[in-house]
Amino acid sequence: MNSKITDQLKEKYEAIDQDAEVHLEGLLHSKPINYWDYIQTDALLNLQVQRTVFPDENVFIMYHQVNELLFKMVLSEIDQIARHKNIDTDTFTSKIMRISRYFDVLTSSFSIMKDGMDVEQYNKFRTTLTPASGFQSAQYRKIEFASTELINLIDKRFRDTIDRNSTYEHAFEHLYWQAAGKDYKTGKKSYTLSAFEDRYKDEFIRFTKFYQENNLWSKFKTLPNEDQSNKGLIKAMRHYDYTVNIKWVMAHYNTANHYLNIGGKTAEATGGSEWVKYMHPKYQKRIFFPDLWTDKEIETWGTDI
Ligand code: HEM
Repeated sequence: MNSKITDQLKEKYEAIDQDAEVHLEGLLHSKPINYWDYIQTDALLNLQVQRTVFPDENVFIMYHQVNELLFKMVLSEIDQIARHKNIDTDTFTSKIMRISRYFDVLTSSFSIMKDGMDVEQYNKFRTTLTPASGFQSAQYRKIEFASTELINLIDKRFRDTIDRNSTYEHAFEHLYWQAAGKDYKTGKKSYTLSAFEDRYKDEFIRFTKFYQENNLWSKFKTLPNEDQSNKGLIKAMRHYDYTVNIKWVMAHYNTANHYLNIGGKTAEATGGSEWVKYMHPKYQKRIFFPDLWTDKEIETWGTDI
């Protein structure tokens, strides 16, 4: 065996007070790995548990699972940018392009939902999912927290009432997505929203503590001025913003229309929001990097598609 490798192995195990010989002997007895063990195919293919007899429910479950895996890939790239101590524009741009490609896939594949399930089957199996909603995807919320400053995720009706001195609790209560499940007059929250908060709020607080200073936008602003004007990086950041906050959101909105707006009659969503208004980007005006868009572009956000 290459003596350089044996030396490196010895060094590696000495560093943790382990005998390299014993580990090498272990290797002698170990089984060769197979594709199915490594990819965990059996576990993966056992994660689809239908609640009804309709075959298209499987499409619904699996496509959501594919989304969650891609969300995990997005979060992994953002995490690498966030933890990079001295990031240069090339690395920043190439990571943002990776993230954008994941979202491009999510956007273009949305037709799997929009055209890939029988409307009649969907409207039967969805009654068994109530009150669950994709709204309760914690990874989607984390992608938002990790992409921009909290202020850009505040419901635009309340943005002026919040500044750096506001408490986290106050900001949290005014995040744009509270509008999907909260009656602002009484403060009463829907079950979908309060169950989501019971499960994830503490985790979101921990997550946001780190990302308040390390989100993509804050990280961009720590770059030298010259790098902040780098055309390639700006183009990549705008592409990401547009893909998530207009293209994906519109693909999602059109899907909801396809399944929930039958013959001009709007059905109630499983999560119970006033979805027609809530979901459209022209009302939400959720923008991760507003400084990279002109006033006109912000004014007409979500109206050109
Ligand atoms: C037939 C397919 C789908 C329909 C009809 C649909 C419908 C809806 C509706 C009406 C809402 C608003 C909240 C509510 O009242 O439930 C919502 C929210 C949401 N859904 Fe879906 N959805 C579909 C597929 C998906 C997929 C594939 C994902 C990917 C994980 C997803 C993720 C989300 C997220 C993240 C939200 C919250 C969005 C926000 O706060 O702006 N949905 N969905």
